[in-house]
Amino acid sequence: MFDRPSTRRDVMKAAVALGGASALAACMDRADEPVPTGTDDPESLPERQHAWNDYLRADEYGNVDGPRHQLLLYLNLDHDGTPTAEDRETLESALTTLDRAYERSHEGVIYSIGYSPAYFDRFEEPLPDGIDLPEPRALAPFEDPQFDRQDALLHLGSDRADALLEAEQALTGERDTANTVTVETALTDVVTVASRRTGFVGAGMPAERQDVEGIPDSRPVPEASPLFMGFKAGFAKNQASEDYVTIDDGPFAGGTTKHVANIRQRLADWYEEQDFDERVAEMFSPTHAAEGMVEGVGENLGDDSGLTPEIVETIREQASEYGRVGHAQKAARGNRDADGNVRVLRRHFESTDDDVASLHFPSLQTGISVFEEVREAMNGTDLTDNPAIRQRVNNGILEYIFVRRRGNFLVPPRRIRSFPTPTGE
Ligand code: HEM
Repeated sequence: MFDRPSTRRDVMKAAVALGGASALAACMDRADEPVPTGTDDPESLPERQHAWNDYLRADEYGNVDGPRHQLLLYLNLDHDGTPTAEDRETLESALTTLDRAYERSHEGVIYSIGYSPAYFDRFEEPLPDGIDLPEPRALAPFEDPQFDRQDALLHLGSDRADALLEAEQALTGERDTANTVTVETALTDVVTVASRRTGFVGAGMPAERQDVEGIPDSRPVPEASPLFMGFKAGFAKNQASEDYVTIDDGPFAGGTTKHVANIRQRLADWYEEQDFDERVAEMFSPTHAAEGMVEGVGENLGDDSGLTPEIVETIREQASEYGRVGHAQKAARGNRDADGNVRVLRRHFESTDDDVASLHFPSLQTGISVFEEVREAMNGTDLTDNPAIRQRVNNGILEYIFVRRRGNFLVPPRRIRSFPTPTGE
């Protein structure tokens, strides 16, 4: 990886995907700019752990850009039974170190921790009525995922690969300081990292990392694309607001639920059997292609994907006329409430873990069943009565994506972020 002299930026971009101490050392050599420090005043931090939008960069249209480097640490508590008061203090201390060390932003480190149904099963008391957190399950007749049932998921992000790697090393007891702040307790004093997954999102990064399984050798991923499939996603108006996905009463008020899928991509046919207009039709809608609504990676769309209620409602007519339906068009059918509000907040990013192109797909919503309904709409099984539309062919992007893992988590509000009980006490 470091055969050729690289710029600091190149090394940073490579480093999180690479991981490990040597990558960090390479980063640190070049980390001449300071990383902004955090705060000793917890009151200055938002009560909602999922409040990320105001702390991240937005583009000129107000679309929020996810942190360029991201890390998912799936964690297991080191013993059976319920967590003790000491466990809770240890975890809180490890997280407080992060808060002190790094500004909560894309320039520092932003993070949240969530807990699985399996974690809450450790307790005798159930979760309150209204907390919608089932075990993960297969969400399509054509998928057979593995289920992430670890106790907790710590999701961290930063534009600074060096900051993210340093934070990880502080959490796992490999460093005594984090951005000059003394690490009093390591996260791994109380939990084990059962699975470590990395990723990235943002223009340039997928193109640079496309030499992996799942992407054809022709290097088709455009330089401008933030994702492997060649388009922007997450337009502001096609995303739920953080308010909307927040649980608003009971002990978990201020929290949210998080579904995280990992989805393998096989993009040979996507790029080599289809031209640009066909890709636009399958990603957005046939109308988008027919009317030339998308240029390049979709930057021209501004702050919404251009999906109108009419494009969504006429999906069957479009299937008959064009012999295919679009991914966004299909998913949108499940993604509006009765008042027209968008229901889920997607924060997906790419991965080259194990040298395979995959997508980490975190989605936030008030309850997991909301996500399941949106996913059902995206399955489009109901559209296959049209002979042109098969379960995975001409049916959005389903021909090219393969769900490998699913997990469900409850992201509690900050006040009970460290090993919450089901009653919030
Ligand atoms: C490689 C995988 C995926 C890619 C590249 C992708 C890309 C996109 C793009 C480009 C859009 C249109 C722009 C936007 O509104 O963001 C979109 C919309 C959307 N996608 Fe995906 N997506 C992927 C997987 C998924 C999955 C697994 C789900 C799960 C349900 C999903 C749900 C949605 C939803 C709900 C919308 C918004 C539709 C609306 O309500 O306006 N996507 N996606």
